[in-house]
Amino acid sequence: MKVAVPKETKDRERRVAVTPDVAGLIVKDGFECLVESAAGLASYFDDAAYVSAGARIIATGKELFESADILLKVNPPTVQEVSWMKKESVLISMMYAATHPELIEACCRQGISAFSMDAIPRISRAQKMDVLSSQANLAGYKAVIIGAASLGKIFPLLMTAAGTIKPARVVIMGAGVAGLQAIATAKRLGAIVEVSDIRPETREQVESLGGKFIEVKGDESVKLEGGYVKNVSEDFLRRQQALIAKHISEADLVITTALIPGKKAPVLITEEMVKSMRMGSVIVDMAVEQGGNCVLSECDREVVKHGVTIIGESNLPSLLPLNASELYARNIHTFLNHLAGKDGLKWEMDEEITRGSLMVHNGAVTHPSLLTTVKM
Ligand code: NAI
Repeated sequence: MKVAVPKETKDRERRVAVTPDVAGLIVKDGFECLVESAAGLASYFDDAAYVSAGARIIATGKELFESADILLKVNPPTVQEVSWMKKESVLISMMYAATHPELIEACCRQGISAFSMDAIPRISRAQKMDVLSSQANLAGYKAVIIGAASLGKIFPLLMTAAGTIKPARVVIMGAGVAGLQAIATAKRLGAIVEVSDIRPETREQVESLGGKFIEVKGDESVKLEGGYVKNVSEDFLRRQQALIAKHISEADLVITTALIPGKKAPVLITEEMVKSMRMGSVIVDMAVEQGGNCVLSECDREVVKHGVTIIGESNLPSLLPLNASELYARNIHTFLNHLAGKDGLKWEMDEEITRGSLMVHNGAVTHPSLLTTVKM
């Protein structure tokens, strides 16, 4: 079977789904590995490295999509790319299927099968395949680094003959995977770190990393399910804003990571709160693609509002393409091994990871979440 790896075509994307090391593993597994020319260049892997690993270079994306039995990708393909795929071939990619019905419809029309990496259930035995975690982890690190680089001051306490510099104050909203890595990174750089989340179990995780927890008690409108926030009311968010306002006004850097899966990101920072911040402070809004945690952030732009720099970078992992591709490639390889037996894919439809991540099988929608949204 031919396992194919295209060059990512999304604007500003630098990652690649498979690194030369993992291409070598795929070949060892008994597949033929095809890689589009220059697919890895933006992650600093040249064609020669893939060839040394046993892969074959294919000149164009179209030719590669047409040849693939199994296609491995980072971002959802375009409808045109899907139209190049062979009937009964398999796509494995991030798909964000709930918000891309046109893509699911294209997969059905083409008669292919599609697995969505972002839908792999977050159970213990799937941790090695969890791209949401591997990429969010790196994003949390990078958010601190770009925030620190935009500040006109240093992070640590510094005592010099010319005087003492107080440590920077960093506030992190949301202590999920990205938030926890942001805490660890900001602490290592010497900042005072304050953190808030509305899942009660995060207090202990924050404190174990040396962060100070800002308590915001939930009310009956805060719905938690399976380790995620499911819902919060507008009224709760207003009270939360009032509780965190003082911490935000004293912060040098604010990193927001608060997300509610499948919904618009909660607004945590209002324009009034931005106005209350010191000139030269920085906000990195990691929820910008889902509408943003700060009302003034703009997707993929850095803006200065009321003297505060607000960074709305939507693809932080792509700014660390080497590590992000390495981790993504290991995630996708583990997933491929999970799905494949010695005679191709096993199609174990009752197995939890397969069932949770399979969106379309040979042209028919299989995932329950899509049955009502996709028009066929
Ligand atoms: P996420 O990206 O969906 O959300 C980020 C954070 O925002 C969460 O911690 C959430 O509680 C917080 N948040 C939502 N609304 C907020 C508000 N109004 N104010 C402050 N914070 C708010 O979450 P992520 O990082 O993808 O995963 C978090 C959950 O998933 C955790 O329970 C984690 O333990 C679990 N998980 C489980 C894994 C496994 O078992 N394999 C792997 C990774 C995560």
